[in-house]
Amino acid sequence: MMTADWIPACAASETVAAYRPVEYRVKLATDGWELREALALRRAVFCAEQRLFNFTDADDIDEAGALTLVAVSCIHSMAEDVVGTVRVHALGNGVWQGSRLAVRRDYRGQAWLGSELIHLAVSLAHARGATRFLAQVQQQNVALFERLHWRAIEAIELRGRPHMRMEADLAHYPPCTTFELGFLTTLRSAA
Ligand SMILES: CC(C)(COP(=O)(O)OP(=O)(O)OC[C@H]1O[C@@H](n2cnc3c(N)ncnc32)[C@H](O)[C@@H]1OP(=O)(O)O)[C@@H](O)C(=O)NCCC(=O)NCCS
Repeated sequence: MMTADWIPACAASETVAAYRPVEYRVKLATDGWELREALALRRAVFCAEQRLFNFTDADDIDEAGALTLVAVSCIHSMAEDVVGTVRVHALGNGVWQGSRLAVRRDYRGQAWLGSELIHLAVSLAHARGATRFLAQVQQQNVALFERLHWRAIEAIELRGRPHMRMEADLAHYPPCTTFELGFLTTLRSAA
């Protein structure tokens, strides 16, 4: 039972870690709410946080039907919030591209969400016949992609910021056909 003196002792502590669900499902967005929350997260990251765009980062690639992947926090296996997203689309001739990778700020470095979104994005494209998978990676994220078996192709500038054109080594990304179900990842501290 909670006692009256438990509350102030707990509230006064600044070392109590913020609550995070243990389980996250990384999957293809299949429901309207997942797509809406993914777009809202992209706006929060690429417009408000990074100021790469003014009002919206949505573009022709979305219009043309790019696939959206999401990382969804789960409570007792029930979907709760979209806390990460990435999109993928085919450029043609077996070449696919990933873009708009974003993890909610308070969920970064918590559950390998960025890494797992990259993993599913490339594996999905591989299953759909990709022979190459590319991305234009913000310079500060190059090390992350290199650790995930991507190689740098060329340095470029996009929207006034340094980026690296990079390519995934498909040998490390076996085709995944169960992308609607996706897979689970857990909080690092729970692993
Ligand atoms: C980039 C981003 C998606 C990574 O998401 P994340 O969930 O924090 O990534 P992960 O937890 O999978 O990271 C895996 C590892 O890479 C590290 N890492 C994360 N971001 C990194 C970065 N920018 N540079 C180097 N390492 C990084 C993590 O610390 C972790 O390392 P560790 O296992 O040694 O602790 C997230 O930081 C983000 O949304 N950033 C803002 C938007 C953005 O930059 N999008 C990418 C455009 S290319």
